[in-house]
Amino acid sequence: MPLSPPEQAPEVLAVEGLRITVNGGRTEAVRDVSFTVRAGESVGLVGESGSGKTLTCRSVLGVLPPGCAVAEGTARLGDTELTALDRRGWERLRGQRLGAVFQDPASYLNPSLTVGRQLAEPLRVRQGLSRSEARERAVQLLGAVGLHQPEEVFHRYPFELSGGMLQRVLIATAVAGDPELLVADEATTALDTVVQAEVLDLLAQLRAERGLALLLVSHDLAVVAEVCDRILVFYAGEVVEDGPTEQVLAAPAHPYTEALLRVASIGDWGRRELAVIPGRPPEAGEAPTGCRFADRCEYAAPQCRSDQPVPLRPAGEGRRTRCVRADDLALAGTGREEVTA
Ligand SMILES: Nc1ncnc2c1ncn2[C@@H]1O[C@H](COP(=O)(O)OP(=O)(O)OP(=O)(O)O)[C@@H](O)[C@H]1O
Ligand code: SF4
Ligand SMILES: [Mg+2]
Repeated sequence: MPLSPPEQAPEVLAVEGLRITVNGGRTEAVRDVSFTVRAGESVGLVGESGSGKTLTCRSVLGVLPPGCAVAEGTARLGDTELTALDRRGWERLRGQRLGAVFQDPASYLNPSLTVGRQLAEPLRVRQGLSRSEARERAVQLLGAVGLHQPEEVFHRYPFELSGGMLQRVLIATAVAGDPELLVADEATTALDTVVQAEVLDLLAQLRAERGLALLLVSHDLAVVAEVCDRILVFYAGEVVEDGPTEQVLAAPAHPYTEALLRVASIGDWGRRELAVIPGRPPEAGEAPTGCRFADRCEYAAPQCRSDQPVPLRPAGEGRRTRCVRADDLALAGTGREEVTA
C-alpha cells in the first residue's frame, strides 16, 4: 500500500516548466514538466519507452548524458535551486541530499573494490567519519537494507553477490548520506518477483522511517500502484495526466492513461505490454502540435489538432490532464485490486 505522507509535509522537490533538449540543443525531448514531491511521498513516472522519464530524473540528479541539457525551467531541492548548481555544487548534493538507484547495480559498483570499501569511503570523505566509524556505519547500513551477515558482505566483491544483494548494496550506498530524495529509475526491473517485492518493501520502510521522498520510474504499473501515492503519466516528452494513484487508475482523465490500463490489464504488466497500444508515439522533436496523442486516440476530434500545445489543466482535486475533451469523455479505469492482482 502507498504510505500517505502527512498532509502538510514540506516539499522536497519542486520542478517547474522543465524543458530538456538533446542532440546539442537541436531536438526537444521533454517539455513543460512540472511536479512536486513532498517529504515521505512517493511519486511514480510511467509511460512508454522514450517518453522522457529517465531524462527528467537525470536532470534532477544533474547527470544528463552528453548533448542533453535543461533548456528551460527550474528544479528546487528544498531551498536549493538545482538548475543553478555548478559541478562542485552537484557533487556536494549527490550522495548526501540526493540518492539514486538504477536498473543495473553491477555497472554502478567498482568490480575491483569490496562492497565495504565502496560504501565506507564516501562516508569518510563526505561525512568526515574516521576509518573505524565509517566501517561501523557501513556495516549498519548493509544490515538496514536487509542483508544477512552484513560484516561478511562488507568484505565481498560485487561479483560474489546476487543481483538482489547488489541492488540492496546500491540502495545502502544511495541512502548512506541520509538523502531527502531518492530517485529510483527501473530499480527493480531486472529482479525476480520475490526479490523485487522485498526491495520495494525496503523502499517503503525507508520512506516511513526517514521521511524519504521517492521519485520512482517503472514500466510496471503494478509496481507504481503498489508503491506510489501519486502518478505522472508521460507521453512523447510531456506529462499528459497526473494525480493521486488510486484515482488516476480508477478513473483516468486522459485517453492515453486509459489505453495504458487497458493494455496492461490483459498481460503481466511488463515492458512488452506497454508497447502494444496501436500506433507509435512520435519521436523526440517530431511531435505534432495540438494533442501529441491525437494520431493514436480513438476519441480524437478536430479541436484536438490545434496549432498550439495543449496545456495541462485541472481535472478535479489534485489532478491535471492534457486532454481537451476530458470533460466529455467517460474513460474506463481499472480498480486497484485488479491492478495489483
Ligand atoms: N543521450 C541521448 N541523446 C539523444 N537523445 C536522447 C538521449 N537520451 C534520451 N534521448 C531521447 O530523449 C527521449 C526521452 O528519453 P528517455 O530516456 O528519457 O525515455 P524513457 O521514458 O526513460 O524511456 P525508457 O522507458 O525506454 O527508459 C527519447 O526520444 C530518447 O531517444
Ligand atoms: S485531446 Fe483529443 S486526441 Fe488528445 S487525448 Fe484528448 S480526445 Fe484524444
Ligand atoms: Mg528510461
